[in-house]
Amino acid sequence: MIKSLLNSITILSVVLLLAVPGMSIAGNGHPRTRENFDQAWRFHLGDVNEAQIPGYNDSQWRELNLPHDWSIEGTFSKDNPAGVGGGALPGGIGWYRKTFTVPAADQGKQVFVDFDGVYRDSQVWINGHYLGMRPYGYSSFRYELTPYLHYGDQKNVIAVRVDNSKQPNSRWYSGSGIYRNVWLVTTNKIHVGHWGTYITTPMVNDQNSYVLIQTQVRNDENSSRDVTLRTLIYDASGNKVAEASATETIPADSVVKYTQDVKVQSPHLWSTTDPYLYKAVSNVVSGPDTVDQYATPFGIRYFRFDSKKGFFLNGEHLKIRGVCDHHDLGPLGAAINTRAIQRQFEILKGMGVNALRTSHNPPAPELLNLADRMGILVMDEAFDMWKKGKTKYDYHLDWDKWHKRDLQDMVLRDRNHPSIIIWSIGNEIPEQGSPTGITIARELAGIVRNLDTTRPITSNLNHPSPDNYLIRSGALDLIGFSYHQNTYTDFPKEFPGKKFIGSETTSALETRGHYDMPSDSIRRWPTRWDRPFTSGNTDNTVSAYDNVSAPWGSTHEETLKLIEKYDYLSGMFIWTGFDYLGEPTPYGWPSRSSYFGIVDLAGFPKDSYYLYKSLWTNNPVLHIFPHWNWKKGQTVDVWAYTNCDEVELFLNGKSLGTRKMTGDKMHLMWRVTYEPGTLKAVGRKDGNVILTREIHTAGKPARIILSADRDTIDADGRDLSFVTVKVVDSKGNMVPNADNLIRFHLSGDGFIAGVGNGNETDHEPFKANYRKAFNGLCLAIIQSNGKAGEITLKATGNGLRSQSIQIHAN
Ligand code: GAL
Repeated sequence: MIKSLLNSITILSVVLLLAVPGMSIAGNGHPRTRENFDQAWRFHLGDVNEAQIPGYNDSQWRELNLPHDWSIEGTFSKDNPAGVGGGALPGGIGWYRKTFTVPAADQGKQVFVDFDGVYRDSQVWINGHYLGMRPYGYSSFRYELTPYLHYGDQKNVIAVRVDNSKQPNSRWYSGSGIYRNVWLVTTNKIHVGHWGTYITTPMVNDQNSYVLIQTQVRNDENSSRDVTLRTLIYDASGNKVAEASATETIPADSVVKYTQDVKVQSPHLWSTTDPYLYKAVSNVVSGPDTVDQYATPFGIRYFRFDSKKGFFLNGEHLKIRGVCDHHDLGPLGAAINTRAIQRQFEILKGMGVNALRTSHNPPAPELLNLADRMGILVMDEAFDMWKKGKTKYDYHLDWDKWHKRDLQDMVLRDRNHPSIIIWSIGNEIPEQGSPTGITIARELAGIVRNLDTTRPITSNLNHPSPDNYLIRSGALDLIGFSYHQNTYTDFPKEFPGKKFIGSETTSALETRGHYDMPSDSIRRWPTRWDRPFTSGNTDNTVSAYDNVSAPWGSTHEETLKLIEKYDYLSGMFIWTGFDYLGEPTPYGWPSRSSYFGIVDLAGFPKDSYYLYKSLWTNNPVLHIFPHWNWKKGQTVDVWAYTNCDEVELFLNGKSLGTRKMTGDKMHLMWRVTYEPGTLKAVGRKDGNVILTREIHTAGKPARIILSADRDTIDADGRDLSFVTVKVVDSKGNMVPNADNLIRFHLSGDGFIAGVGNGNETDHEPFKANYRKAFNGLCLAIIQSNGKAGEITLKATGNGLRSQSIQIHAN
């Protein structure tokens, strides 16, 4: 179709702060439309013949809205081919079809379908014409539909076959299906190309910032055209702050790159605490008409890594306090939901996290938009493997044919996000140990640098020694350490002049609400290759004192102490922020989700959350644990995470002593002989009491307490309210081991999108209207059904006083 004649034309423009002369809008008044294409698809689980043919009868297929993950609807079994590491849920083949019309007025325009991500091996047809396939489940891709479309009343059918049957193909839960959003984009024949803008800020200071805008404009007309590109820069309040204009002749069926630079005076910088965004609007003008209008949000900021002093954002030193996360959203599976990601970010920011590694693949675009808006730095990662695989059917089989395209597309799609500060070309790549690592690392770094030189490149290295072939390649700007915390102190000696990032750290393990004593003996549990792990707890729990870790990793405190101590350690990405489905190290079945999270799969913080919160935020923190229901006379270790100077602990009014946060202490501990009653902690700063906390011995489960994270949601069919269910005794104390079955009764304009409880071994479905509490808590996720109105959720349980909660959708 289009020949890529790439002319690079540099146009230096002056800053214009004048009003734009009136422009007429081409065609039917919309120079470009980008419609969400998620509604009213038909789905069939299983393979069928010829479902790509428009006349195929899909009337018996299930109707659903995207994003959709069919695996999360399935039944857990250790025999599912993804294996326990893959989350023990089914894969398989699925078909999607959607019937739609295109207005007659769109004739002569160009129509594209954009898939943000389909897991995996998708094939797409429009009206029976094959458009192509995409193996990698984490890439975003576009097809042009124009030549095959019908206009007016005549119907079009798009069909998608998704094949996630070859298993195992992932070391974690992937999900299956069209699990990200789909868009229908309609443009004129002259328009900004796909991911066609690239905005950088090559020079920034307090007075001025130069903003460089490179824009690819396509002319798909059959004759050459004079095309003016007027780029307007707006601040966050919508004021125009700069403008550039240039006219070029674009030959027929060609692309021309415009390079414009403008000056923004007194720029408002983007940072993690003030994530300020500008917007560039590209107006494409041909003759009297504005034929395209394309908006690109961007930020103005600068940063650098220093081999001795670590990371600097806008000239200020900033420790990178990050987490790694996989893409699943717990009970919602892989099906992307913007509010669910936003909630994860809110929870992470609450403990002081300022960075995220998208392990081990490109994320949904919405995640990056949120990171831009919420001030979260991002390491955008491309691959978990290269040519050598990690599981039988993983991406290594697609490597030769697809890696260049997939990596290019990640950078092209993502390079305008101010949140992204690092590109990672791979996680724990097997080629670290072979000379081919040199060739491939150089090739990949070359692909990235060809498209973006403003961010350093790293790779997460589980053999971080100078012998590593990826390091020897010279392709990496940052030495990314995967664990090996015991060698951090040797870094300046081992890697003189090199820059460090703890691209993956820690791998501590915890089950929320479960405590094994004594708490001060650290256990490195055996590697996952020793599974099934027989010397653990028979119920597959792991102690939530920070005293258990994978042998290659450390407890939270061990790595945290090092990272915070040395400036040359620019920061870290903890494995992991949230628990995820799959990889239930150190156990195997019946566990089916991870223990690594600082927050469990339902979004409930484990105790270590407050360790970070006490050190990484300025909020006063006094968190004491465990619960206070033990056997009389038993020795119980009481811990406190705090940023008070000292804490005094009382049991039933009697002081058990004051402990001070001295030296490099990160928690306080009292060894207590248990008696039921009230444990009270008093936190003092400069001698003044600033916080007190009490934990009471709980009686029998008596009632349910519901609390919604938001009692008003948008009636947009997508928005969510996360309702926490707490099982309490008659006095309102949470019952720490309560596992009551809770039933949900929903009425009004919403539905239950999922339920969960954070128990790694629970095999009940996530799509259900019931859930057992786990250590006192469970969760129901309420979703808008698209209509405005009231939603009532009632929770009941045998022998428990029920409760109802109201959510307004508007
Ligand atoms: C790392 C790996 C992660 C995860 C983690 C568990 O080696 O990069 O994907 O498997 O171990 O500790």
